Amino acid sequence: MLIRTPEQDIERVLYTEKAIAARVEQLGAELTAKLGDQRPVLVCVLKGASFFYIDLCRCMNCPIDMDFIAVSSYGAGARSTGVVRLIKDLDNNITGRHVIIVEDIIDSGLTMQYLKQLFAARDPASVTTISFLDKAGCHDASLKTDLVGFEIGNEFVVGYGLDYANYYRNLPYIGVLRPECYN
Ligand code: IMP
Ligand code: MG
Repeated sequence: MLIRTPEQDIERVLYTEKAIAARVEQLGAELTAKLGDQRPVLVCVLKGASFFYIDLCRCMNCPIDMDFIAVSSYGAGARSTGVVRLIKDLDNNITGRHVIIVEDIIDSGLTMQYLKQLFAARDPASVTTISFLDKAGCHDASLKTDLVGFEIGNEFVVGYGLDYANYYRNLPYIGVLRPECYN
């Protein structure tokens, strides 16, 4: 089995564990202020958003419901296939509920667009979108996410839930993958 190491593959650290924690705390406070009295349903987009999701839930000072959805657009590589596939649907009905979609990163914006359409058809009271990272230069400005942790450039990043071919999800920081790894 191929073993990869961060020493080989990570070019530099973009956000430290400490910087991540500080930003997630702010985002949790913002969401609490916006929807705290509505008992929102936070939807985790598996698997990439899992670390962010759990930290964000902990930073929300209000009653919430937790639910999980899994979609895939990447396969095993570093480029989107352009087709979003639903792998696991929500467990609960969101009709009439205030829904918060929690994503790890917006690249082409296709995944978030797909999820917004999927949920809109179920008549929620509202849908709010949040993504930990946003490659703002990689998608149309009309695909706007309501809340973003950090805007980043067009680089492939790993850690804090984000993977490259399933590696590096459990790094506690966000690191930039060396382009040689996927070129
Ligand atoms: P989009 O549909 O092109 O916006 O892609 C969104 C999904 O692709 C994210 O939820 C991630 O799972 C994955 N993705 C996009 N960019 C990166 C990256 O730089 N590192 C790791 N995963 C990424
Ligand atoms: Mg994802």
